[in-house]
Amino acid sequence: MATSAPDPTAQPYQVSARKFRPHEFAGIIGQEHVRATLENAIKQGRVAHGYILSGQRGTGKTTIARILARCLNCVEGPTSTPCGVCSSCLEIPQNNAPDVIEIDAASNRGINEMRELRENVRYRPSRDRYKVFIIDEAHQITNEAFNALLKTLEEPPEWAVFLLCTTEAHKIPATIASRCQQFSFRSVDFTQLVNRMEWICQQEGIEADAEALAVLAQAGEGSVRDSLSALDQAIACCGNKLTGADVRGLLGMFSIESLGAVTAALEAGSTTGMLDIVHELESTGRNLQHYCRELSRYFRNLLVARITGETTRLIPAAPPEQERMRETSAKFSEEDLTRWLQITIDLYSQMQYSLQPRLHLELGLLRLVHAGRLQPIEDVIRGLSAGSAILSRAAPAARLSAPKPAAAPPPPPRPAPVAAPRPAPAAPPKPAEAPPAVPPPPAEGSLKQRLASMLQRQKKAFTADAVEHAEVIENGGTVEFLVPRQHMLSLRGPEVSQCLEALLGRPAKTKITINDSVTAAPAPEAAAARPQGSDEALKRALDHPEVQKAQELFPGSAVRSVRDLKE
Ligand SMILES: Nc1ncnc2c1ncn2[C@@H]1O[C@H](COP(=O)(O)OP(=O)(O)OP(=O)(O)O)[C@@H](O)[C@H]1O
Ligand SMILES: [Mg+2]
Ligand SMILES: [Zn+2]
Repeated sequence: MATSAPDPTAQPYQVSARKFRPHEFAGIIGQEHVRATLENAIKQGRVAHGYILSGQRGTGKTTIARILARCLNCVEGPTSTPCGVCSSCLEIPQNNAPDVIEIDAASNRGINEMRELRENVRYRPSRDRYKVFIIDEAHQITNEAFNALLKTLEEPPEWAVFLLCTTEAHKIPATIASRCQQFSFRSVDFTQLVNRMEWICQQEGIEADAEALAVLAQAGEGSVRDSLSALDQAIACCGNKLTGADVRGLLGMFSIESLGAVTAALEAGSTTGMLDIVHELESTGRNLQHYCRELSRYFRNLLVARITGETTRLIPAAPPEQERMRETSAKFSEEDLTRWLQITIDLYSQMQYSLQPRLHLELGLLRLVHAGRLQPIEDVIRGLSAGSAILSRAAPAARLSAPKPAAAPPPPPRPAPVAAPRPAPAAPPKPAEAPPAVPPPPAEGSLKQRLASMLQRQKKAFTADAVEHAEVIENGGTVEFLVPRQHMLSLRGPEVSQCLEALLGRPAKTKITINDSVTAAPAPEAAAARPQGSDEALKRALDHPEVQKAQELFPGSAVRSVRDLKE
């Protein structure tokens, strides 16, 4: 019995976040901009009366507020390097200095508390130089209570300093914010977090391998406190020896291998591979939502690796892990990675509410495989017109890793982007690129004919039809369209002026006038039943090798009409 009783002389247990809270600027990691500005202000004697310290949880707001209080009230101060031995320096970290008042606004948010505070501010500090008010969770203060503070913040007595800490800066009223200097705290860099964890492990006599440290740093997502909490949890569970695998298992995080199974299945175009992954996750009792979230992060990192092509601080992972991500990402195109990222993000938000996460995950992973097989419509059509062989749909990886066709013959007019089957990340159509710079042949014919056929080639069937039904009058810099009412809307799109500009070689204004009598002049092709000759034209068109190729590529497609461009 006696042996298991706690040692009364031992220090009470403190969580690492509190035990290792820095008391000097030098101990702070990240937040260099805050540090530098405050240190300078202290040196120059230009400390403001109100500061807002805002930003992500656990990144040092309260810590820096206390350090600043110490700098101001140290007997040797104000100094950016407090002595550490005077009563002020000793009491502030313990939170019992008489002139540093910490208020938790989450529980003291009302008008009465602020009135009390306002009263308190009027009295000189009882012992030290400054009276420092640290108001934590300041966004919780009610509007009314904020108003009670306004006057005090505007013209505070010379000894008062207010430090408002908040994770939600946007909730601080503008009237308050404009009377304060604001600092945004940033999430802390992966490498800095790893180094900090390593140092703390050394202090605590904990052996942690590099992977364990990396996992802990990742788990914090930029918050030092969250990483330290994860560390405490790991120590409690695994003791003094921490390995990457243990910590991963404990925190429910997934290894790069387990996420890499998805990219391997994508590379092989294997749908069964995807189903196996879900089965494996389910049978080992892993959290599927969590997996999906990690997967989207993984795709995000692969995309960044693909774009930057080198070790970067944009990816929260150790250099060897980044190297592996780069290798994997090189097997895919940027477009595919973007598409997959989008799909996994959507999937994650669906899975949040799903009663059947397994089905959702299966569906989502299968969708990844299918999305990887989609070809950009531009490539398909370019391949068609260039007369090249149709790209294989069966081996996506081979296609994806292949470099872009180098010296293709002069590109044909870009196809209409609307036809693209990709859920492209809502990029606005690039109007400048849409019309070909040089009007392709046939260049002869009236402006109306040339415009109509250019629109046809761009697959703007309705617009082309409207042009054919219009009377087109070129008048100086303006092109006027006299059209029957029902065609008016089709002419409103940007493609008309884009094509006109390409045809005329200069920008042209368009004017659309309703003229129902124009219907009387039927378009050559819309007139009555199809002429006899068109059957023969249709047959010729259907026999054309490129038309056949197109039909093969788009099964179920049909030739609806054939038009003689010279007409
Ligand atoms: N920038 C940092 N450098 C070193 N340690 C830090 C840093 N930020 C946070 N910590 C550690 O995390 C603990 C919590 O930090 P702190 O209380 O300052 O966070 P905070 O930004 O005020 O968070 P919250 O918004 O949740 O109040 C500290 O005790 C310290 O151990
Ligand atoms: Mg805080
Ligand atoms: Zn001191």
